[in-house]
Amino acid sequence: MPNSKPTILVTGGAGYIGSHAVLALKRANYDVIVLDNLVYGHKDLVEKVLQVELVIGDITDRALLDRLFKTHDIAAVMHFAAYAYVGESVENPAKYYHNNVTGSLTLFEAMLAASVTKLVFSSTCATYGVVNTVPVTENHLQNPINPYGVSKLMVERILTDFDKAYNFKSVCFRYFNAAGAEPTGLLGEDHIPEPHLIPLTLLTALGKRESISILGTDYPTPDGTCLRDYIHVTDLAEAHVLGLNYLLKGGNSEVFNLGNGNGFSVREVIETAIKVTGKPIKVVEFERRPGDPPCLVGGSEKANKVLGWIPQYPHLEDILSHAWQWHQHRHG
Ligand SMILES: NC(=O)c1ccc[n+]([C@@H]2O[C@H](COP(=O)([O-])OP(=O)(O)OC[C@H]3O[C@@H](n4cnc5c(N)ncnc54)[C@H](O)[C@@H]3O)[C@@H](O)[C@H]2O)c1
Repeated sequence: MPNSKPTILVTGGAGYIGSHAVLALKRANYDVIVLDNLVYGHKDLVEKVLQVELVIGDITDRALLDRLFKTHDIAAVMHFAAYAYVGESVENPAKYYHNNVTGSLTLFEAMLAASVTKLVFSSTCATYGVVNTVPVTENHLQNPINPYGVSKLMVERILTDFDKAYNFKSVCFRYFNAAGAEPTGLLGEDHIPEPHLIPLTLLTALGKRESISILGTDYPTPDGTCLRDYIHVTDLAEAHVLGLNYLLKGGNSEVFNLGNGNGFSVREVIETAIKVTGKPIKVVEFERRPGDPPCLVGGSEKANKVLGWIPQYPHLEDILSHAWQWHQHRHG
């Protein structure tokens, strides 16, 4: 924990994972400024719940970034701001390359101009593409299969080159599926549209959706449905604080997977949701969707070894009951 209070700029801090990171930063005695264009973020979450300064603006706005770095003594940046809908990225890659790549490059150039050279970046397991090993480790080949994954890989490559050329230090976290909600019920997931299995299942339990779909029941997995890695968002947030501390202490650029290490099947998620909520959840089964690997699970030994990161909420029941508490409060 720092002695004084360094200021951290959090891009995308009004979003799901960013807002949890802001809370973790506050608890770790950092000052925080959030930069978010509110395309998907929630203003009230930042101003009323987290009570930190919110600058409404875009990471592609270089003049705004220059002003921000001039008027605040920023020690480092946590960069969550991005678009993250895989399907949309296939239909409209220009939107993704512009926001996720050009936006990131604009941010990094503004940082360099202000001599701010420490960054924690949200990358993704989607940079691996089709994986055949379990669990996936950081040295697995990166061959993304959609523009969203490519956009994140491009930013990783920019960061590698920036380190070599400008001594720009970064920690890249490749997350698996962020899930759950702040255990006290303060924060949670509120995406519109919502693409993720756990919130969709809970919205079905709340009666906001008619049914939940299972896409493929004949995979070579114990119950025939896909296995995925769900990592509690509070554990992700904690990893970001550890990554930031590591950089501020002079750590070298590193890449870390952040995953649970355990795979949970789609059916297991739905059955656990029925147990946790006590509600019936209607399931509709469909054919497999092309491109979905049977099993996608991340190994996080490196984050444990280098950063001392130990997930506090690895159990599916905890992830679901925290998410359920949030969804009842938000949508009930
Ligand atoms: N949710 C997951 O499971 C997951 C998994 C892997 C990686 N990620 C990455 O983590 C990050 C956060 O994801 P999330 O689920 O919290 O998404 P989110 O949409 O809830 O949060 C992203 C935030 O960034 C803001 N934003 C987007 N473009 C911006 C721009 N140009 N300028 C300023 N603000 C902008 C949005 O308004 C939103 O508040 C993203 O970079 C995403 O790619 C998420």
